[in-house]
Amino acid sequence: MSKKKVLVTRRWPTVVEEKLKALYDVTLNESDIPMTGAEIREALLAYDAVCPTVSDKVDAAALDVTNPRAKMLASYGVGYSHIDTEAAKKAGIQVSNTPEVLSECTADLAITLMLMAARRAGEGEREVRAHKWTGWRPTHMIGTKVSGGVFGVLGFGRIGREAAKRAHFGFGMKVIYFDPFPVKPELAAETGAEKRDTIEDVLREADVVSLHMPGGKENYHLISTDRLKLMKPTSILVNTARGEVVDGVALANALKAGVIKGAGLDVFEGEPRIVTDLYECENAVLLPHLGSATASTREAMGWRVLSNLEAFFDGRTPPDRVA
Ligand code: DGY
Repeated sequence: MSKKKVLVTRRWPTVVEEKLKALYDVTLNESDIPMTGAEIREALLAYDAVCPTVSDKVDAAALDVTNPRAKMLASYGVGYSHIDTEAAKKAGIQVSNTPEVLSECTADLAITLMLMAARRAGEGEREVRAHKWTGWRPTHMIGTKVSGGVFGVLGFGRIGREAAKRAHFGFGMKVIYFDPFPVKPELAAETGAEKRDTIEDVLREADVVSLHMPGGKENYHLISTDRLKLMKPTSILVNTARGEVVDGVALANALKAGVIKGAGLDVFEGEPRIVTDLYECENAVLLPHLGSATASTREAMGWRVLSNLEAFFDGRTPPDRVA
């Protein structure tokens, strides 16, 4: 039997690419240059499955295909707001993602950002590298103590709960959360997390607010000028979720005006472009979407895609089917 034709839109870890080569008639993106929507649309007509990732734009235009050859978009990454799932459904294409395997590393990075922003680590490193450090003194680069504070989680899913564990057990922080969906009591009990009825309640009470909800239309600019004003002037905002959840201009203004103390950001609306004003904010830590960027996690994400592809080609429901 001839091998199924599979297209992968970006470079993946070598071991996973080698396995794909063994299993499928695979086309890899050796150049790693992002594909256009039109190229993805063409691929849906020419391949049995397409494997996009979070930096691709698989929107309604890319999915405007009638009876495509590919009936499967096996995406590499947990977030899938880059895929118009309604349009995929209309075109008869299933969609899967790669949950669970990146929760710990993404949570680790949320804590990295919390500490970097609170303890001014980015500023400090810039000072040293610029040869501007004049030595220890009692008033130098004073930050904020996070230990014993309140860690507010918006979106208490897998990654939010892992971040909560680190904040609670690592730094003795009290955990509060808001999630629009019910959370099993035993999961909240792991960190003694207390539910709050609204986003606003969390923003008012938390010393650190960590964002862990999906992106897309439903949470677009959820953190706005008005909501930033509810936060404590001493507080820190951390975003490892999706860039569009935060109004970047509003955040830059809030950071400059001292509405909040600092921010740690791993994701940006329209990345890799960044709201220009954010570059000027010394109190913002800016990382290039590193949440899941560890060798073992990036491989595990690849294996997860492979198990979804395998199930799909066997005629089973992919274990991580989301649409
Ligand atoms: C995801 O998987 O959605 C991340 O943003 C990339 O690790």
